Order: sequence, then C-alpha cells, then structure tokens
Amino acid sequence: MNKINVGLIGYGTVGSGVVQLLEKRKAYIQNRFNTEFIIKTVCDLAIHQKDTQHIKDAKLTTNYEDIVNDPEINVVIELIGGLNPAKDIVVRALKAKKHIVTANKALISDSGKELFELAKKENCHLFFESSVGAGIPIIKSMTEGLVGNKFKGVYGIINGTCNYILTEMTKKGFTFAQALKEAQKKGYAESDPTLDINGMDSAHKLAILIYLAFGKKIKATDMYVEGITQIAQSDIEYVSHLNYTVKLLAIAKKEDDEIEARVHPTLISNDNPLASINDVYNAVFLDCDPLGSILLSGEGAGQMAAASGVVSDLINLSGKEPNANLFCNLYDENVKLKIRKIDQVKNKFYIRFMAIDKPGVLAAIAGILGKHGISINSVNQKVHDKTSAVPVVMLTDFATNKMLQDALERIQKLPIVKSQPVAIRIMEQLW
Ligand code: HSE
Repeated sequence: MNKINVGLIGYGTVGSGVVQLLEKRKAYIQNRFNTEFIIKTVCDLAIHQKDTQHIKDAKLTTNYEDIVNDPEINVVIELIGGLNPAKDIVVRALKAKKHIVTANKALISDSGKELFELAKKENCHLFFESSVGAGIPIIKSMTEGLVGNKFKGVYGIINGTCNYILTEMTKKGFTFAQALKEAQKKGYAESDPTLDINGMDSAHKLAILIYLAFGKKIKATDMYVEGITQIAQSDIEYVSHLNYTVKLLAIAKKEDDEIEARVHPTLISNDNPLASINDVYNAVFLDCDPLGSILLSGEGAGQMAAASGVVSDLINLSGKEPNANLFCNLYDENVKLKIRKIDQVKNKFYIRFMAIDKPGVLAAIAGILGKHGISINSVNQKVHDKTSAVPVVMLTDFATNKMLQDALERIQKLPIVKSQPVAIRIMEQLW
C-alpha cells in the first residue's frame, strides 16, 4: 500500500469537508488506487477553538512551520486563502519537495505562473482544481480533455455566493442583505464576503481561466470588475417583466490580438442556458475550436463541492510523475495579446433612475442621452405617484461605457433625479 502523509493548512468549512470526504472514501481509494492518505498534521490559527471530532490521530497545531518543515509530509493542502502567508507556505513547501493541492484563487491568479515554474523546477505537482467552480472539473477539462483545442472565449457564472443571492432575490423576494446572510450560513461566501459581492472573487477565477485558455497572465486588478451590490429588488422585478435574468458574468474573449476580460452584472434573456443556472450553481461556457461550445456546470461553492475538487487533486497526484508542462508551457499564440479597454466595448444597457414624476422629466433625461449619442430602445415608468420619486427604466441601444458614464454623470446632476442611476449591461447573444 502506497502511504502518503498529508499536512492540511486551514481547517475551515472546506478543510473539515476534506477530512470527512477522505474518511468516507478511504476504502475505495485503498482498493482502487492502492493508496492511503494519512492526515498527519492539521494547522489552523484557531484550531483549539474548532470542532475537530472528524480528525483522527493527527497532530493539531497553530504553526504552519510544523508542516512545511516536516520531512515525513509528502503533500500540503493549502486552504487558508488570500496571498499571505499562503504564498510563503506554498513556496517553502515546494522547495522542500512537497506536492501542493490548493483551492486558493487569489494566489493562483496572482502568482500562478511563478509557482508553476517553481513546481516544475522541484519536480512537484501543484494542483488547484477547486480554485475555480469548486469541484466542477474545469481546470482538468481545459488542460487535459480539451488540450487539443484552441480557445476563443470563456463565459461563466463563477461565484456561487452572488448567484445564490441573485436567485434568492428573484425567486423568494429576499433583500440583498437577507440573501447574503443565508449564503454565509451555508458556507458559500469567503471569510470576507466583500470579495464575493464586489466581483473580485470572480475576477481572480477569470484570471486563472484566461491563463489556461490564452496563456496570458493578467491580474484581476487589470480587469473591468463590477459587483452586484447596486442591484435592488426593484431591478430584479423590472428585468423579469422584460424577460431577462440578472447574472454576475465573467467574460473573456479573444479577437485578433486583443482580449476582453470583464466581470459585471449582466441581463441575459430568459431562454439563454445560463439564465437557468441558479442557486449556488456555477457554469462555464468554453468556446473552442474544433469542439465548439461546451458547458460545464455544477455546485460552485460549499463544503463538499470544494472538498470534491481537493480530494480529486489528491488522488490525481498520487503515483503520477509531475507533468509541469500542463501549466508551465501554456503558450500565448499571439505574443502581442493586449487587454481591450472597457471603453472600447459596446453594450446595450438597462438604466434605472429615481426621478420626480412631472412633465418634462423624460425629455430632460432622453435629451442628455441623445447628446451623448445614446439611442433609447424603450422607456418604462412603473409607478405614478406625484409625491415622491418614481423609477424610470430605459433600455438603450449599443453604447460604450464612456458614453454611458458621461451621460449618467450629467443626468444625476438634474434636480429632478433623486438617486444614483443604476446601469446593467444587456447581452442578448453571448457567443
Ligand atoms: N466564495 C466562493 C463562491 C467560494 O461563492 O463562489 C468558491 O470559490
């Protein structure tokens, strides 16, 4: 029997899921792979305050040195998230010739290339399936199953928390705050949920997908990123009357020597397959040649979904020679590949203003949009109440971000407009 000693760093929701799943699948793993994974040490800063009933016989510590310096540990599972000290842990463990399994999207998106090169030099595995879409085998599909294809685009719902919030707001009429609380309770959200709702978690994941698809290293901070915090219950209601669904989409597409890389709320028509990806489900559409479009979907966050990806990585690395070429030799077919600025990207927009209900209001707003070259496709004023501000909803024709932002800035200064306008991109056709 092949015995592999594991050091687990980070004993939160996912860490505890990994311990439970390894125990549940122990006999299967032994019989099928002739391998036993032994959790030798578990490290967490708060380990002594945690429920450790599922951990059998492992040393418990608050100091990760006990793992990176232990010559008997063969594999380190890093589940603490964030850049520091996760990077130090991974670098030191690789230098000590330990294989790594991580679910850390911030780390892989920021330092993946450098870490893959180090793993190659040290002849170690560095696996990260759970960093995007939890257990959905997106990384494996792109780097193995589809390795003969050329990627043209990647479109996805890759944050479970946001998808859960938007679904609960749509289906149950929850407020944003209520839905976020539920997502936290279910263990979907990051320890700092700001990263989920401001779009940065999706941007980290998109940066990883862009690296795998196009061989281009791009930082999440170099993308256009907008979260879902400005979306109100009323927007959800208006768009559903218009036959649209709101989703937080991550979009990357390559055209000639440019890539579009953006994360933002998007209205998609109800008959688009992504409109029916609900709750904590994620979905990634890959547009590739020669296979065409494929959709990978499943639960994209949560304890056992993430544990599934981590345990699969663990099994995949056992008994195999590291194949660093999977991640190191990703190659940008066009060395001049640049990121297209959001201002050059044209979209149709849904816009909502809260305005005083009196004659001339629509004309004033429409006049400013017209002056900025934005054509209006439809206008809707839902409520007639002379005493307070009423929502005015407009759908525009194609406009750039700059055209829209300049117009909205002027509209907001009108005394008849009572709150900051909300603008959401509409994409009738995604690919
Ligand atoms: N907070 C993340 C999400 C967890 O909601 O998608 C999975 O990466």
